Amino acid sequence: MLLTLDSVLDASQLSAIHQLLHDADWRDGSHSAGNMARSIKHNRQLASDSAASQRIRAIVLGALQQHPLFFSAALPHRIFPPRVNRHGPGEYYGPHYDNAVLRGPEGHVRSDLSCTVFLNDPDSYSGGELQIADTFGEQRIKLAAGSAVLYPSSSLHQVLPVTQGERIGCFFWLQSLVRSNEQRRLLYELDMALTSLRQQHGESAETTQLTGTYHNLLRLWAET
Ligand code: NI
Repeated sequence: MLLTLDSVLDASQLSAIHQLLHDADWRDGSHSAGNMARSIKHNRQLASDSAASQRIRAIVLGALQQHPLFFSAALPHRIFPPRVNRHGPGEYYGPHYDNAVLRGPEGHVRSDLSCTVFLNDPDSYSGGELQIADTFGEQRIKLAAGSAVLYPSSSLHQVLPVTQGERIGCFFWLQSLVRSNEQRRLLYELDMALTSLRQQHGESAETTQLTGTYHNLLRLWAET
C-alpha cells in the first residue's frame, strides 16, 4: 500500500525547519549509502549528528504522531531517526532497494515502511519525483511541502534527476508492529471504516464488536 499523508507539517513547522537548514552542515550523501547504492546516489545529506538534524527530527516525528492516519497506517514499533537530504540540478538517487535491517542508536530496526516528507514547494524545482515500483505499479510522487508518502520498504524506488531548483526531503524507515503489508492494510481499512461508521451513526453494539475484532486481529499479528 502506498499512502500519502497530507499536511503533516504546518507552515510554522516548515518555516522552523527552513531556518534550521540555513547554513546547515551538508555532506556528500554517497557516504551513507551501502555498496550497491553508492555509485548511484548523487545528493547531499544533512550531518545526522548535527543540532539542526536533531531539531528537525523532533519536529517531524512530533508532527507525525499528531497525524490521524500515520499511526493507523504504519502501526510503528521502532523508527530509524529521520534524515534530511537535498538534490540540486543534476543530482538524483538511481533505482535501488533500501537495506532490510538498519543499525539505529537504540538497536536494529527492520525497514518495513519507508516515509518521505517533502520539505519544499514542488513548484520551486523541476524533476526530483520519487518513483516507486511495486505490486501497485509504478508511481511518481511529488507532494506539497509538508506532505508525506508512506510505502513498503521492499519496493524498488529512485529519486529522478532534478533539472532545476532544489528538492529537499526528510526520510526515514520504520519497523511496524505488523510485519506483513497485507495484514497491516486490512487493519488500516478496518480502522478507517470503523472511524467512518462512528462519525455517521455514533457508537453501537456493532462498532464495539468490530473494535474488538480490530484489536483481536492486532493481538494475533503484532510482534513487540
Ligand atoms: Ni531508498
